[in-house]
Amino acid sequence: MMTALDPRQMAADLGVRLEAEYPLARLTTLRVGGPAEWVFFPATPEQAAALHGVLREQGSDPRVIGGGSNIVAPDAGVRGAVICTAAMNLPPEAVGGERFRCAAGQAIPGLARWACRHGRRGVEFAEGIPAQLGGALRMNAGANESCFAEITETVLLAAGDGRIEERRVAAGDFAYRESFIGREGRFVVGAILRLPEDEPEAIRRRMLSFRRRRQATQPLTERSAGCVFANYPDQSVGALVDELGLKGLRVGGAEVSSVHGNFIINRGEARAADVLAVIDRLREELIRATGRAPRMEVEIWRERR
Ligand code: FAD
Ligand code: EPU
Repeated sequence: MMTALDPRQMAADLGVRLEAEYPLARLTTLRVGGPAEWVFFPATPEQAAALHGVLREQGSDPRVIGGGSNIVAPDAGVRGAVICTAAMNLPPEAVGGERFRCAAGQAIPGLARWACRHGRRGVEFAEGIPAQLGGALRMNAGANESCFAEITETVLLAAGDGRIEERRVAAGDFAYRESFIGREGRFVVGAILRLPEDEPEAIRRRMLSFRRRRQATQPLTERSAGCVFANYPDQSVGALVDELGLKGLRVGGAEVSSVHGNFIINRGEARAADVLAVIDRLREELIRATGRAPRMEVEIWRERR
């Protein structure tokens, strides 16, 4: 890391947990990726914003990882600083009316269960998404005809100088699997969600029906990063891969799922290189079939030395 301050000193000064040469395979649901030179685990939004400020001041442009459920990390690992939000998994805090302040590390399945228990609707669509809130907002994760943009009032961002900036969501901030957070390279430390009251039993029933649908259509017991490509505006990529007979296509330990054609699964000892080779093959075949390049949904991290 090109900083004047020693990362260990920085972490100690801020009271943040730091790991050196930490395997990215442990932080990603696909379970591939070599070591990250430095991984910081801030425990609160305030700590995360302060850490981000110090890193920026030192000329570092940290990568961010949440649930690691949409990332293919390189076999060689990455140099520099990574901020992981996993330790910021704090209980949502009521801030008036239907509004709840949540930290970026809030695990989405846990948030959905919490909301159900407290008779708050809005998150049940996302119960099976193994993300954290920051990553879910960055990707505007969606399922069952809903998405995170619909329930988010304000995004809490690291301002860059150590403080937290509150940004009220405006038109154009979010689109299908895309947001201003990626476009502007922002770091989300939390959000204020709008979760109206509802009957816990009604919420539970909706969650259960979404869960059953997902269990029937996605390889949930396998290691994956969810859908590899965003759908075409007029066509499901999974259905197309299926139609083209590409399920089961395998390179090394990486394979196109036989359950859902837009999922690549790690059959055990897959390396990132295997996953990338399968992605390339799928992309070629999709272009051949449609004449259009599919847009990547998963993010491929490249080595940075
Ligand atoms: P990560 O994978 O950690 O990161 C994704 C991107 O967000 C990276 O660019 C990262 O740098 C950035 N990021 C992470 N945290 C922050 C932050 N705090 N601030 C700024 N940037 C940040 N996706 C859907 O949309 N719908 C689904 O139904 C769905 N189902 C899935 C099912 C399975 C079994 C799996 C494995 C994945 C699924 N996904 C789904 C994909 C994935 O869960 C989503 O893309 C999710 O939004 C990623 O969140 P994450 O916290 O894991 O982010
Ligand atoms: N289909 C097939 N074969 C397959 C996969 C799908 O024929 O292998 C058919 C299905 O039978 C259905 C249609 O294709 O008729 C659509 O499939 P599905 O309902 O599974 O939806 P999808 O478009 O493939 C999207 C999201 C998922 C989200 C589901 C449910 C994208 C890229 N994917 O999948 O999100 O969970 O809808 O709402 O938008 C993700 O983004 O990572 C993700 C998993």
